Amino acid sequence: MINTITSPVKIGNLQLKNRLIMAPMQTNKGTIESFANDFHVKHYADRAEGVSMMIIESTAVSSNGRLFADDIGIFSDAHIEPLKQIVNAVHEKETKIFIQLSHGGRKSSPKVTNRLIGPSPIAYDDQYSEPNEMTEEDIAQVIEDYRLAARRSLQAGFDGIELHAAHGFLLQEFLSPLSNLRTDRYGGSVENRVRLLREVLEAIRLEVGCDYPVIIRVSASEFSPEGLTPVDVANALTYVECYLDAVHVSAGGILPNQPLTTHEGYQVPYAAVIKQYVKLPIIAVGRIYTPNLANAILADRLADIIAIGRPLLDDPLYAKKMLGQ
Ligand SMILES: Cc1cc2nc3c(=O)[nH]c(=O)nc-3n(C[C@H](O)[C@H](O)[C@H](O)COP(=O)(O)O)c2cc1C
Repeated sequence: MINTITSPVKIGNLQLKNRLIMAPMQTNKGTIESFANDFHVKHYADRAEGVSMMIIESTAVSSNGRLFADDIGIFSDAHIEPLKQIVNAVHEKETKIFIQLSHGGRKSSPKVTNRLIGPSPIAYDDQYSEPNEMTEEDIAQVIEDYRLAARRSLQAGFDGIELHAAHGFLLQEFLSPLSNLRTDRYGGSVENRVRLLREVLEAIRLEVGCDYPVIIRVSASEFSPEGLTPVDVANALTYVECYLDAVHVSAGGILPNQPLTTHEGYQVPYAAVIKQYVKLPIIAVGRIYTPNLANAILADRLADIIAIGRPLLDDPLYAKKMLGQ
């Protein structure tokens, strides 16, 4: 059977009515305490038509892990209610909604971070100071932050969680040999570098159970000869596949060396590699803006689901148009 963007698909036990979803994109409109507000409710409700599911922007699990000062967060029970408003507004459009849980690690916003932490004391660039090498207590705290964030995500009514393990933030920092030089059980071998991610996923599963969809976003290339390749990332994922329901394949962010230009479908080859190794639905993203390209990716089985980002910022009904609705 040849799939198209209009074909239904499942993420775990969650049925999606089609294969077009909205990629997570920060809106930089959180309050100073990282609360979501009316802006977010309208922003997401306006874009909930056409797509079968949306992943809301990076949402901080810790006040010390915000990527930007105006990010939203889920690091206290008080954050639940405003997020619930977003969920309800999107559900009214019969669209599923996931939350993206994140911790910036060494790339947490210098403006709102009291103590920068990371796997090893290596600064990202001149704009960020050298992070404190995380102690076992720091690691335990981060795992606890994710556990509580997962509990709150469920309470807010989200249909699933996306773990942000891409773009050079904390979970990728542990995975990558470029930022993780540890010699303890969290560094060195792949099994050790994936340990934090595995422990975070175990903690999340304890909270949400087996049936709740949990997916991950990874950077499948680090654009460095010493960095992770798509095959390395696929190999790391095999250690945590049993906790996951889908993999969302992005790239870059661990070093300030992004490619200057991108072409249509520039990250699809990475998704295709991951798909060879991981037997979960694979989400492709990155300049997939036409039904022809999206359908070709699905027909060739390079990925199972297509995420679109920037066009939805300019035109909230972009997905509907792609679907011919
Ligand atoms: C304004 C903006 C904000 C973004 N914020 C996030 C984010 O919070 N989390 C994330 O994983 N990716 C984020 N991204 C990356 C997008 O999810 C997506 O991968 C990227 O824009 C490529 O897809 P596109 O060509 O369809 O836009 C952001 C991108 C943009 C343009």
